Amino acid sequence: MNSSPHIVVVGSANVDLTTFTDGFPRPGETIFGRKFHLGFGGKGANQAVAARLCGARVSVVARVGDDLFGPATIENFRSRGIDTAHVSITPGVATGVAPIFVDSSGQNRILVVKGANDCLSPADIDAAEELLRQADCVVLQLEVPIETVYYTLRLARRHGIRTLLNPAPAQILDFAEIANADYLIPNETEAETLCGLPVGSLEEARASAFCLVESGVPNVIVTLGSNGALRVGPDRFEHIAAYPVEPVDTTGAGDAFIGSFACFLAGGTDESEAIARANVYAALSTLSVGTQASFVTRERFDAAWAERAQGS
Ligand code: RIB
Repeated sequence: MNSSPHIVVVGSANVDLTTFTDGFPRPGETIFGRKFHLGFGGKGANQAVAARLCGARVSVVARVGDDLFGPATIENFRSRGIDTAHVSITPGVATGVAPIFVDSSGQNRILVVKGANDCLSPADIDAAEELLRQADCVVLQLEVPIETVYYTLRLARRHGIRTLLNPAPAQILDFAEIANADYLIPNETEAETLCGLPVGSLEEARASAFCLVESGVPNVIVTLGSNGALRVGPDRFEHIAAYPVEPVDTTGAGDAFIGSFACFLAGGTDESEAIARANVYAALSTLSVGTQASFVTRERFDAAWAERAQGS
């Protein structure tokens, strides 16, 4: 077991502007929100931070803008012990931002303005090739150009590097390209978009997961929020229950799942247990507000995991 695996995240970094509100204005109307939170986010950055908090060595390949948020984002990575040798500042472009709205039930609505994330190119991946070749696992999402995602998956496949693709935010993808990923981890909406099948129940989620496996992805995990996760491969199907909590803010819970799962899996934990652990890590992140700001330390996770084991 490698307790400190090396994870390389190729992906986005945003600044999250989260407004907590009980309602939404109609066109032309002004209403008051309840609370505001400014924090570091972006699916790639969040997953990197979750993996780091769980104990992985983490490097990020990303682009930020030359505005106020760019250097602050790099400093946030550094302060967490994340390697930023391949995080570049793009002149004349804004850093990615995400206005987020959280309603009284803890449900979120997110709008992403990609900014510099959209400038991450295959040339950046070539420049990071040596780093990628040293990784125990490369983690990708879809807030950077799709050709960069496909290019990274192809490069990783050529070199036998394990990859994990989180197809978020939801979009239609080329199955021949995503078949280069070792793990595909969509949530219900993303699975629905990829397969064109409804995912409203466990049975439907299972049908979508099998559709993805039949399309050539060897391992599919569909995350189902409070219903846990489904693990599906050509010869297996398993439902792994969630860790029950009363959520305050679910923003970033999917990223907490992905980052922690990558760390546990690349550290040598068996796949089912890595999913069960990631379910707990993700659930804990919903107990406070913000994205990265809500991710817990390894100590806090270990305590919850031990408590769960005693209860079962
Ligand atoms: O998954 C949550 C993340 O989605 C937020 O941090 C936001 O920046 C968007 O990328």
